[in-house]
Amino acid sequence: MTADARTGKAESSVGQDRVRIDGPLKVTGTAPYAFEQPVENPLYLFPLTSTIAKGKIRRIDAAAARAVSGVVDVLTHENAPRLLAKTDAELYLLQSPDVHYFGEYIGAVVAESQEIARHAAGLVRVEYVAEAEDTAFRPGHPGEYNPKKINTGKPADTQQGQLEEGLAQAVVTVDEVYTTPYEHHNPLEMHSITATWDRERLGGVLGVLGERPRLQIYDASQGVSFVRLMLAPLLGLLPQQIEVISPYVGGAFGAKGIPHAQVMLAVLAAKRLPGRPVKYMLTRQQMFRSVGHRLTTHQRFRLGAAADGTLTAIAHDVSQSSSRLKQFAEQTVNATRHLYAAPNRQTTTRMVPLDIGPATFMRAPGEFPGMFAQETALDELAVRLGMDPIELRLRNKPDTDPESGKPHSSHYLNECLLEGARLFGWQERKAPGERQAGEWLYGMGVAAATYPRQMTVPTKASVRFAGGRYVVSIAAADLGTGAWTALTQIAADALQVSQNEIQLQLGHSDLPFAHLAGGSTGTYNWGSAVMVAAVKFRSQYGQTPAEGDEAEGSAYFPDESKKYVLDAYGAHFAEVKVSRVTGEVRVTRMLGVYDGGRIINPRTANSQFIGGMTMGISAALHEESYLDSRPGYGHVVNSDFAGYHIAANADVPDVQARWIEHPDPMFGPTGAKGIGEIGIVGVPAAIGNAIYNATGKRLRELPFTPDKLV
Ligand code: MOS
Repeated sequence: MTADARTGKAESSVGQDRVRIDGPLKVTGTAPYAFEQPVENPLYLFPLTSTIAKGKIRRIDAAAARAVSGVVDVLTHENAPRLLAKTDAELYLLQSPDVHYFGEYIGAVVAESQEIARHAAGLVRVEYVAEAEDTAFRPGHPGEYNPKKINTGKPADTQQGQLEEGLAQAVVTVDEVYTTPYEHHNPLEMHSITATWDRERLGGVLGVLGERPRLQIYDASQGVSFVRLMLAPLLGLLPQQIEVISPYVGGAFGAKGIPHAQVMLAVLAAKRLPGRPVKYMLTRQQMFRSVGHRLTTHQRFRLGAAADGTLTAIAHDVSQSSSRLKQFAEQTVNATRHLYAAPNRQTTTRMVPLDIGPATFMRAPGEFPGMFAQETALDELAVRLGMDPIELRLRNKPDTDPESGKPHSSHYLNECLLEGARLFGWQERKAPGERQAGEWLYGMGVAAATYPRQMTVPTKASVRFAGGRYVVSIAAADLGTGAWTALTQIAADALQVSQNEIQLQLGHSDLPFAHLAGGSTGTYNWGSAVMVAAVKFRSQYGQTPAEGDEAEGSAYFPDESKKYVLDAYGAHFAEVKVSRVTGEVRVTRMLGVYDGGRIINPRTANSQFIGGMTMGISAALHEESYLDSRPGYGHVVNSDFAGYHIAANADVPDVQARWIEHPDPMFGPTGAKGIGEIGIVGVPAAIGNAIYNATGKRLRELPFTPDKLV
């Protein structure tokens, strides 16, 4: 906080447009990323990956690779260090000759240079005993099962009221199937790691306590505290023996949330070469194999409504892909349980077990695919009712949470819809086919967005006065989202000092334990811990602290918040043009209006919102990983940017975000709601609804490629 020179009034940092603290380091190329961290005498790893989807390795002939000058080691399941506990099937790597999916890590070459490692890896001959695999996703698969719980710990299925009666009462119904494809995370920075095994001397008189192993990892990670906790039991180490460092991350959308097999691969390689740091950065192609993906879904969505649009029934029945190696049961049905009122409700989740790699979180897992179905179905219902789709949504706002009956802590969905309609010029919207220019048909669409407050694990922060500055420490992560800056702003206000008196430390596992950057919890959760530590510091040491004064605090959330259901909301508006000649879709304009609680930094928040919308446009128009499910294959065919298209600048000419700012104290003392994921939720539905408005053609399969429109 600084005093305004003119008025003498204190001016807060929170809410001000602040440039990124880490910006200069990043744009000058000097921010050290995991692969670039300067270490002594590094080695480079290139992996061996399976070329079958299921079976066993019979023999690995690495003689030619070992003979290459500069090759230091060839790691395989035969010589890999043993892991002590199978606490995570994905991380339990190289412990047997079994192959679970195509592209699985089955070993690695470690060499003095990246080029040598890659060349030598190509010389390794692997013989397999292949078994019949199944990689073909289809609902109703004989092995389909009920996972009982879905991600975030909620039940897989729910029932309320009488669904069939609710549908029978309805004057208008929708009963359609919506599908979403496999997608792969593609941040600018591929996953990378620099791992070093060493020994550390323990204390005691003359070092009598001896030595113990120490593992240091520079990782591209959304949560250093979790990396260490997850690796420790497998490696038989105490968490304190593992140091995980990740100050800068070149983008992450969930795949860097928890460690995947690549971390263990480098760690096992490094363990055989104590004292030598082993570096591994995935190739872009490897990003499509073993570091997670968005699973594919088949969603039957049913709606029933009275003539005035009042919903009488909602049913959402989902079947989705799963890895036999490790289940990730995406919460695809979650938003359906909360967004609209209807007395008769059903949601179900089924998993189809396949011989594919594990899925993982990808920006708004669950809400993203589920809301594509729900918000498209709502639009279909509006068409059948002859009602404006905004009006239909306004009418079905629930008074309390439809599932639990609890009140909402704050709920500004309708305000977002109305404000968005005004700003976007919704009243200009015409009927399908009515607005054209040359070969182009124009249309507008809308979709709601919601994202829940996720649970967090206990998170701490500390404030220490050192060198005339307030050193604020927390093992948080900045994925490029602006956490460095937002947490500094929060700390400055809580300590009532100016931003440049704060020195923030994050991205190191020795710092106070923090929940990972996931579930859009970062700002309100880490921010809460920082505020508590700062307030404690001030009350203990006053305005003139002494060097070394320190206070620690844990994230605080009001007990009262348990009485409420907590969600962020938004409304997405899209205008598209569709070529009658080629079926090409261009998103000409897009607007998101959000109820995201307090906005800590309008600049970085705006980037989060428009980044989410951009990723949503990308998913709507382009993104799809084609898995070749013919017998003997099982790999992603389009595993590079030539085949896997991602929205580029020309795809997003005009994407804007606005917000309705109502701080919500039930989300914690910052008043901020999560905003990292809501920007993508419902975007493909808004675009698909706009395509319908332009053309009269309803698309229910993502992505909306031209072949589906000609
Ligand atoms: Mo985000 S998909 O919760 O990392």
